[in-house]
Amino acid sequence: MSTHADPLAAMAAALTPSTAALRAMSESFRDEIARGLAGSGGSLKMLPTFVRQPRGDERGQVMFLDWGGTYGRAGIAVLSGDGRVEVEREEVFEFSDEDKMAPPEHVFDTIAAAVARVAGRDRVTRRPLGFAYSFPARLERIDRAIALSLTKGWRLQALEGRDVVELLADALARRGVRNVAVSAVANDTVAALALLTYRDRFAPPADIGLIVGTGTNQAADLGALGIRNLESGNFAAVTALQAPCDAALDREVGEPPPGVQRFEKMVAGHYLGEIVRRLANDLASRSTLFRSWPAGALRSPFGFDTANLSRIEADGSPDLSDTERFLRGMGVESSQEDREALRTLARLVVTRSARLVAAALLGTLSHMDPRLESPHLVAVDGSLYGGYPGYDRLVRRGLEELVGPERADRIRLEFVKESTALGAAVIAAVAGRSGAP
Ligand code: GLC
Repeated sequence: MSTHADPLAAMAAALTPSTAALRAMSESFRDEIARGLAGSGGSLKMLPTFVRQPRGDERGQVMFLDWGGTYGRAGIAVLSGDGRVEVEREEVFEFSDEDKMAPPEHVFDTIAAAVARVAGRDRVTRRPLGFAYSFPARLERIDRAIALSLTKGWRLQALEGRDVVELLADALARRGVRNVAVSAVANDTVAALALLTYRDRFAPPADIGLIVGTGTNQAADLGALGIRNLESGNFAAVTALQAPCDAALDREVGEPPPGVQRFEKMVAGHYLGEIVRRLANDLASRSTLFRSWPAGALRSPFGFDTANLSRIEADGSPDLSDTERFLRGMGVESSQEDREALRTLARLVVTRSARLVAAALLGTLSHMDPRLESPHLVAVDGSLYGGYPGYDRLVRRGLEELVGPERADRIRLEFVKESTALGAAVIAAVAGRSGAP
């Protein structure tokens, strides 16, 4: 039973975990890292990556492929050996909802077609390609990645257990492409980390790569243990922080199944719009707000995109007129009171996401440096982090809330744009470097 007569106030309370609860989450995150590394279970996979930190002087022309969601990119990048890496040409490709449930060969044929167009036929020698595969995978070598179950709403038929590098190489062979060699595969978090290290060869390497986009995840450089992909979206010790809407979403979303990717389901862009949509529908049934919501696009699951939350936040007009317009475009008439309530919901959900991200980040940092005595560099990318106005400040505030301003100051978060594609190119160049260090 809620103690709030006002349903919006009750939602606000449920969506605002206490500082103590966040600290407890951060500690269990740290504990799960230790368990994952010890191989004694837990929800963090701590997957080996076989990626070495760049030296910063790698140079040359390499291909990249970025696939981890609805849009993918294939291209050629040039590394100058002085921290610069630039896209020379590229192509973006898109997947439909049907593609997300197709046999893997279908998806890899689409990818290979894009790679083939970019690679061209004017060259016979093989160019190395770095493949950013932004789903869970167990790497056995730098160029062998066995797929684990997919995330972010994807479920390709019988992909699990297959090597995605081989699937790509086979698809390229089917198209007759002989001038591309898939030489490295890495997660987007690892790509972000590697790119930031590459950019400044005189600075200490980045410690962590963090993505807050459609999904969320971290990679961390654990020294002798190498760079590990945490797959932190699957972190499961979140029950104490869940609001009723989270438990319902986890149960009902279908893909990924209940209990899987629980942290991601509260934090990442694939889900935040859906959480707000559910909350708004709930308010519509329990108050005078959102009378016309159920009539519009907001009736159907995932009908309210997370990008809308950024639009609402960016709407500086006194009566939220841009919000009014795009809601009308979705078949929803709104009063100013509705729009303000919607903005309140959006802010609650996004602020919680940023606080959870801060708590998880501190979980990793406290594994590496229990008292946070040294400076740390975190490479960050992702559409939510980069696209929602002020998300970076919300994370910073979360860090300060949890460890105080002085220690929070030792943590530098650097936004690295286009890090997945460029980072994949850097990783391919590092892999091509002969010999150790
Ligand atoms: C999902 C994927 C993970 C990826 C993240 C960000 O959590 O499982 O591999 O790093 O999304 O794209």
